[in-house]
Amino acid sequence: MTVIKAALLGFGTVGQGVYEAIQTHSEQLKKLLGASVSVEAVLVKDITKERPGVPRELLTDNFNDILSIPDLQIVFEAIVGVEPALGYLKQSIAKGCHIVTANKVLFAQHGNSLQQEASRKGVTVGFEATTAGGAPVIRTIKELLRVNKISRIEGILNGTSNYILTLMREENYTFEAALKLSQEKGYAEADPENDVEGYDALNKLLILSELAFGEKPDLSVSGVEGITRITLEDIQKAKKAGQRYRHLVSAEMTEHGVAASIKPVLLSEDHPLYSVDGVLNAVAITASLAGTVTIKGAGAGKLPTASAMIEDAAALSGKLQTVQPLSARSLFAG
Ligand SMILES: NC(=O)c1ccc[n+]([C@@H]2O[C@H](COP(=O)([O-])OP(=O)(O)OC[C@H]3O[C@@H](n4cnc5c(N)ncnc54)[C@H](OP(=O)(O)O)[C@@H]3O)[C@@H](O)[C@H]2O)c1
Repeated sequence: MTVIKAALLGFGTVGQGVYEAIQTHSEQLKKLLGASVSVEAVLVKDITKERPGVPRELLTDNFNDILSIPDLQIVFEAIVGVEPALGYLKQSIAKGCHIVTANKVLFAQHGNSLQQEASRKGVTVGFEATTAGGAPVIRTIKELLRVNKISRIEGILNGTSNYILTLMREENYTFEAALKLSQEKGYAEADPENDVEGYDALNKLLILSELAFGEKPDLSVSGVEGITRITLEDIQKAKKAGQRYRHLVSAEMTEHGVAASIKPVLLSEDHPLYSVDGVLNAVAITASLAGTVTIKGAGAGKLPTASAMIEDAAALSGKLQTVQPLSARSLFAG
């Protein structure tokens, strides 16, 4: 039996989802990739935490243990923030590993340089999970770009904001009450600023714009606006007029470069994103031949995000070496 060696960086919501998906979908992966995917190590910050379901000998808090795994092929990264994740990914690429990341903050800032480094090393960077979770937006844009020209992208890219706006419209919650319920349900962080002020959506817009148009927009003029200024009265007034507030990101190619905005927008029933409620994400892509293509799905969560990462790994079919499962675990078992 041969294997494809993988490592996980991070074992929180997303890392656990990837680990679980590799076990539950092992047969599918084996058929696609020609060998089983073997998780050889899991990097965490706090090695003392209980991690039910993962063998103790796989855990490490030392990235050098990952680098020393012979024949390592895929590094899945699901850490929070730019560093140390960026350094880890660069070192993984330098080692000749394909990388798959969910880290949108990192990728929005450094995606381009990481892809260039990967290309020089003949490896790939999967980043489907950085934007719209399980909804395959990145893959769809890449497919469309083979022949189509993309002129416009619009999206609802923050599930927490969309959930709050939906509660305000459907249940007449105030913003504060809707935010509180989102936190109780685990949709919003204890510090919700990143979501409700639009910064999370900004990272995703930067990623989509760079992919679709080859450049990032300058948002220094239009700014980034979240949903905190929308009142229940605004929502009720819009409802009476048959309209809905959506926190919308948009990017459009113009003769002066990419024009973009991130703000609450009133949509009418004929808009493709009018009916996207709750924690869902959706993106409408307008392309020269295909017209407007709309993709909708779970924008976050353990398994939808893991799905995006696993599909990125599955796309490596034909690019991976299989090796005898001489375990690297003994290198740092303890
Ligand atoms: N949650 C989602 O639905 C979702 C969706 C799309 C994208 N993402 C992105 O995916 C990434 C992971 O999100 P998450 O929700 O899984 O986060 P999380 O639950 O907070 O887990 C983060 C993991 O990273 C580990 N970690 C943090 N700093 C580290 C360091 N310096 N060295 C080694 N390990 C470190 C943590 O270790 P300990 O366990 O020891 O603390 C933890 O296991 C983030 O970049 C996020 O933006 C998340």
